[in-house]
Amino acid sequence: MNKRQRPGAGLTRRHFLYAGAMLGGDLLAAPALAQQACRLTPGDILGPYYRFGAPFLAKLAGPDEAGERLAVSGRVLSADCRTPVANALIEVWQANSSGLYDTQTPGNFTDKGRFHLRGMLYSDAEGRYRIDTVMPGRYPVPPNLPGLEQYAGITRPAHIHFRVIESLHVPVTLQLYFAGDPYIAEDPWASQHPDNVIALEADGQGRRGVFDIVLGRGF
Ligand SMILES: [Fe+2]
Repeated sequence: MNKRQRPGAGLTRRHFLYAGAMLGGDLLAAPALAQQACRLTPGDILGPYYRFGAPFLAKLAGPDEAGERLAVSGRVLSADCRTPVANALIEVWQANSSGLYDTQTPGNFTDKGRFHLRGMLYSDAEGRYRIDTVMPGRYPVPPNLPGLEQYAGITRPAHIHFRVIESLHVPVTLQLYFAGDPYIAEDPWASQHPDNVIALEADGQGRRGVFDIVLGRGF
């Protein structure tokens, strides 16, 4: 893996997939190219806002949720970047369009039954998944986080957290970022994970992007 690569500088299999879909072509017909671009999806920090036990749903945001609509879809793939991983458990969580997690909403922190902008879903038989949500807002790193004190106050680029688990593969925890976000370059996590930065296309419905997740084999 080349973690020092700058965002957009390289072509991962994910980008090939996306370009191929956009062009209506079959760029993956060239196995040498696909092989060259194949990398495991790198992990990132869990962060302070993970909560276990979110409901099974892929539509994270209801119609009344403030913010620009965002759809992220893709496939969970095995280490060869070809074999679909079915029934991978995908957990996603994010801030709302104002940069707040549900635990930061007054009255919600102690209500453990309420989850907002969090969900779990399974990849299908072809490894596919899709979440429908809103663009997450940026937020500052809170003060007094053990080990992260030096980063307190810096603005995090917009991101969605993922945790992907499947029994025959190595789980990965990551953050998905969006190309063009001016806060990526100075962010100590986003700047180190260019493979987890995707481009978004805009249409009348909002924005959409493709993110394939490549898991290492567990044996
Ligand atoms: Fe976060």
